[in-house]
Amino acid sequence: MQLTDLILNNSEQVTRQSGLQSPENDKKVYIETFGCQMNYSDTEIVLGVLSKFGYNETSSLEGSDVILLNTCSIRENAERKIYKRLDDLKFIKRKNPNVVIGILGCMAERLRKDLLEERKCVDLIVGPDEYRRVPELIDNVLETGEKGIAVKLSRVETYDDIAPLRREGVTAWLSIMRGCDKFCTFCVVPFTRGRERSRSLNGILDEAKRLSDEGVKDIWLLGQNVNSYKFEEHDFPDLLRTVASALPEVRIRYTTSHPYDLSQKLLETMAEYDNICKYIHLPIQSGSDRILQLMNRLYTVEQYMKVMKTARELMPDVGFSTDIISCFPGETEDDHKMTLDVISEVQYDGAFTFLYSPRENTKAYSMSFDIPDEIKKRRLDEIITLQREISYDINRKMVGKTKRVLVESLSKKSDDFYMGRTDCNKSVILPAQFINDEGNQDTNLRAPAIGDMIDVLITKANSATLFGNPVHFHLPISNSLLNG
Ligand code: SAH
Ligand code: SF4
Ligand code: F3S
Repeated sequence: MQLTDLILNNSEQVTRQSGLQSPENDKKVYIETFGCQMNYSDTEIVLGVLSKFGYNETSSLEGSDVILLNTCSIRENAERKIYKRLDDLKFIKRKNPNVVIGILGCMAERLRKDLLEERKCVDLIVGPDEYRRVPELIDNVLETGEKGIAVKLSRVETYDDIAPLRREGVTAWLSIMRGCDKFCTFCVVPFTRGRERSRSLNGILDEAKRLSDEGVKDIWLLGQNVNSYKFEEHDFPDLLRTVASALPEVRIRYTTSHPYDLSQKLLETMAEYDNICKYIHLPIQSGSDRILQLMNRLYTVEQYMKVMKTARELMPDVGFSTDIISCFPGETEDDHKMTLDVISEVQYDGAFTFLYSPRENTKAYSMSFDIPDEIKKRRLDEIITLQREISYDINRKMVGKTKRVLVESLSKKSDDFYMGRTDCNKSVILPAQFINDEGNQDTNLRAPAIGDMIDVLITKANSATLFGNPVHFHLPISNSLLNG
C-alpha cells in the first residue's frame, strides 16, 4: 500500500471500499436535469459520485437501470414539468419494475412526503446536500425494495473533493459556493438549498487548472450569489483574481451576482484582467423601490443604477443582463411602468422575465395576490416586447464591427456553421471556414474548429443572435494553422 492510499479523505475511502465490493457493477444511469446552472453542475457531481461506484451514464431511458430527475421548484411551472415527466416514467416502471427511479434536487426537499406517498413509481428522494449517499440509497432499494429518503441540508457540504463528471466541451461550470442567505420574499432557494457556504480557494483553483488541462477555454464560476463567496480571508474578487491570473488563456465568467453584494473591488478586478469576461448578469427583479422592499431585495433602484454606472465607467464595453419578476403581489400599473423605465434606461443586452409564481413557505406566499390574468399577460408582454426591441437595437449596432469569439459547438441548425460567444456572452453564428475579401473560402488558413478564439466580422443580427464571418485567428498563427 502506498502512502497516498493511507491519506485519502473519508469520502474517497468509502468510494474505494465500495468499488472493491462491487467491481462488476456495470449499471446504466440515465439522468435528466431541470432548472438553473447549479442543478446542471450538481448533475455532474452526482455522476462523479456514481462513476466511482461503477455506474455509466446512458443517454437512453430504455434499458437504463437507474433513472434520476434532478428537479427545480423555482416556479409552479417548473414543478408541473417534473410531475408530467413522472407520469411518463410510471409506464417505464410498469414495464420494468426493477428500474430504480429517483428524484434529486430542489423539489426533493420541498415535496418529499407528497412525492413518496403519491407517486408510487418514485423509489428515492435525495436533496442537494446528500448526493454522496446516492449509490448507497440505490443499493438499498435494489437489495431490500425499501424506498430511500435523504433530504437533510448541510451547513458545510460543498463537494470540494468530488471530481464532477463533465461532458466534453470547451466551456465548463465550476460551482464555488452553495445555498443562499438572502431570503428574498418570493424565493424558495434558501429553503431548498439551505445556508450559504463556500468551497476552498485551492479546491476551486485546482479544479480550474484541471479543466484548462483538459482543453476547457471558458469557465463559469457558479453560485446562487457568487459575490458573497467567503473562504477564510478570501472574498469573491480574490478568488476571481486568483483563477484569472493562474489561467490567462482561459475566459473566466461568473453567475449569479446579487446587486447588494456587488463591490467596487469586484468591478475593478474585472476591469484589470483581459480574460475576465466583461459581462454581468445582475437581476433587478423590479424597477419600483416599493416592490423591491416587499421583495426584501436590500437595494433601491438608485443604488442599483450606481453599480451599473461604475461598471460602465470602468468597463465601457460591459454587457448586462437581468432577471425581472412581473406582477409581484400588489404591483400597480405605476410600479410596472417603473420597471419598463428602468429597462429602457439601462439598455440590457438581454433579460429573463418571469410572472410571479407564489411559492409555499415563502413570505410573499401570504401577501394578497389579486392581479387579474389578462393584466398579468399584458404586463409581461410589454416587458418582453420592450426588451426584445432593445436587444435588437444593441445587436444591430454591432454589424460592421469585429468581435472576438470563442467557437463552442456546431450550430444547432447546420453542421456547416459553428456557434460561438463573445466576451459579453452574445451567441454568434459563423461559417466553418474563413472567407477572403472576394467572399470565397480562404484556403490559406485552416478551417475554424471548436475551441478556437477567432475575430469575427459581424454581418447580420437579430434580437437574440449575431451572424458573422471569421476574419482572423486571435492567437499568434502558428504554422499548423496554415494550409500546407
Ligand atoms: N440567486 C439569483 C436568482 C436565482 S433564481 C439572484 O438572486 O439573482 C432565478 C430567477 O428566478 C430570479 O432572479 C427571479 O427572477 C426568478 N424567480 C425566483 N423565484 C420566483 C418566483 N417565485 N416567481 C417568479 N420568478 C421567480
Ligand atoms: Fe433567491 Fe434571492 Fe437567494 Fe437569489 S438571492 S437565490 S432570488 S433568495
Ligand atoms: Fe431551481 Fe433549485 Fe436552481 S429551485 S432555479 S434548480 S436552485
